[in-house]
Amino acid sequence: MAHDPHGVFARMREAGPVHAIVAPDGSPAWLVTRYADVQAALGDPRFSLDKRHAKPGGYKGFELPPALDANLLNMDPPDHTRLRRLAGQAFTPRHTADLRPRLERTVESLADDLAGRERIDLVKDFASPFAVGVICELLGVPAESRSDFRTWTNAVLGADATREGIRSTVREMYAFFVALLAAKRADPGPDLLSALIAARDADDRLSEDELTSLAFLLLFAGYENSANLMAGALYATIEDQALRDALRDDPAGVPALVEEVARHMSPALLAIRRFPLQDIELGGVTIPAGDTVFLSIASANRDPRRYARPDRIQPDRPDAARHLSFGQGIHYCIGAPLARLEAELAVRTILTRFPKARRHAPISWQPSVRVRGLSTLPVELGD
Ligand code: HEM
Repeated sequence: MAHDPHGVFARMREAGPVHAIVAPDGSPAWLVTRYADVQAALGDPRFSLDKRHAKPGGYKGFELPPALDANLLNMDPPDHTRLRRLAGQAFTPRHTADLRPRLERTVESLADDLAGRERIDLVKDFASPFAVGVICELLGVPAESRSDFRTWTNAVLGADATREGIRSTVREMYAFFVALLAAKRADPGPDLLSALIAARDADDRLSEDELTSLAFLLLFAGYENSANLMAGALYATIEDQALRDALRDDPAGVPALVEEVARHMSPALLAIRRFPLQDIELGGVTIPAGDTVFLSIASANRDPRRYARPDRIQPDRPDAARHLSFGQGIHYCIGAPLARLEAELAVRTILTRFPKARRHAPISWQPSVRVRGLSTLPVELGD
């Protein structure tokens, strides 16, 4: 599965819309494979994200300390609504558009560092540092802590992650966030974490655990998926000469490419696990209340019932933007405008600064059942 998620999903999708499976931690769960069912379930309030609605013996997922667990992806309304309103303020499309000049400076300076090098890895040397840099800058994480992020996310999300490895990494991250929040409280800056601390301290709209959990979620969610989308969009551009020429002539086409790559690669293979609040019929199967349900975003996005020739990257598809890569409904990704902007700038920058960039060795994918992303994209920059 980790090595060929789309092949496995295609076989399952054709075999049936809903499958009884065994989750990575050995617990029983359901996997939903077709677009219509995944879309319906994503927006259905009868599916809870709150673990308290899970049956005993169900999927455990990451075992986070309570101070990191009080996050948006474990919550239903009304707590979710209150927290999302606070966090969402910083991620509106308008706010994100205002960030554009700052992001342009960051990406240009990364490109400056690459200039003059013959061979680079577009994941390690460009997409990852750009994604980490943006989210850390937004939140106000000091530059010296940024290199720890790749290590942490690999230790938690990698296919070879062990329970003990995850536990000790999470402890390390927790200590980091507690210290970071204390530093921001003592010395606030013009960043999102300082603003959230002010909101908490002003009228207790956020508990201390919610604040720490939100910082954790934003950094985690904001890094890995964004880096993967960016690397996927760069790969699509570099591999297809006709597409690359078309985008160089008309860079206004880059956002459509990013959207289509988001559909095609689905950086989050699965939505966050859900627990039905009552018995629910989906795709002709009755799923009992409290069971664990995985909605496969990646499978839905390549469902031939929804998209013609779904395995092809076709930026001019009329309905590309209706993909489910950022979820749907009340848990729709708050970072979607930021992720789109980062990927757009990454592609534009490489096209303009390194028009002759060519892949010189095979790529490799991260071996994961949760996320889809390149681990290497080796290119020669040309002149
Ligand atoms: C390509 C990049 C990204 C992808 C594919 C992605 C994907 C997703 C998906 C699928 C969900 C919904 C989960 C569900 O309902 O099961 C989600 C939610 C969320 N994402 Fe993203 N995300 C990306 C980038 C970001 C960024 C850059 C941030 C923050 C800076 C972010 C923050 C969040 C948060 C906070 C939620 C929870 C929203 C809520 O519960 O109300 N994401 N994301």
